Amino acid sequence: MKKEKTVIFLEGKRLYLRPVDLSDLEEFQRFANDPDVRQYLLNVLPISKMHEENWIKKTMERNPNDVTFAVVLKKDNKLLGCMSLGDIDYINGFATTGSMLGAKEEWNKGYAQEAKMLILEYAFLTLNLRKVCSAAFYENKGSIKHNLKCGYKIEGTLKRHYYRDGKYHDQVLLSVFKRDWLRLKKQN
Ligand SMILES: CC(C)(COP(=O)(O)OP(=O)(O)OC[C@H]1O[C@@H](n2cnc3c(N)ncnc32)[C@H](O)[C@@H]1OP(=O)(O)O)[C@@H](O)C(=O)NCCC(=O)NCCS
Repeated sequence: MKKEKTVIFLEGKRLYLRPVDLSDLEEFQRFANDPDVRQYLLNVLPISKMHEENWIKKTMERNPNDVTFAVVLKKDNKLLGCMSLGDIDYINGFATTGSMLGAKEEWNKGYAQEAKMLILEYAFLTLNLRKVCSAAFYENKGSIKHNLKCGYKIEGTLKRHYYRDGKYHDQVLLSVFKRDWLRLKKQN
């Protein structure tokens, strides 16, 4: 793909974030059904092309309370997955992030951390939010670690909250305040 045709909304060192597009449909459907990817996600039903297409169309509606980005590698425009800033509450100044980087061959390279930092910058310095939350299965070390590296702190745990693979799992609640994120950003 030629550089001038690339749609970029937020740009980092190795990644850029852009709106999700219908041309992402096949890959997103593959990611969302992959047992390794959905292991710690809340969806437990198979995802059809029609369902995925409806989800993409919904993200394309430009809802100011729910913003979803495709996460893409700059070097070759490879789609890694998506990240969202959802349940945006402009009165109380908070929102919740969600991550699904379905290209599992690219895990553990710091891409979630880089994308999350871009989304936090957007949340704090563009949308003027003051707190961003996240939640993860206790066992989802990748999710918890990349959030901690972006300045999130653990606020608490919901005990035996989600049923999966024959047992109940704790859910870890995390959040990052703008002032702490600004301090971390300055250090880096
Ligand atoms: C969770 C997820 C977003 C992490 O993406 P990622 O690009 O691998 O994360 P990063 O590489 O930025 O992770 C940051 C740190 O966590 C570490 N990490 C990532 N996955 C890990 C794992 N499974 N176990 C232990 N550490 C892990 C990385 O090595 C890195 O640490 P380092 O900088 O000290 O090396 C990705 O695995 C994913 O989308 N999984 C499927 C969907 C999902 O579970 N989403 C989260 C729902 S709450």
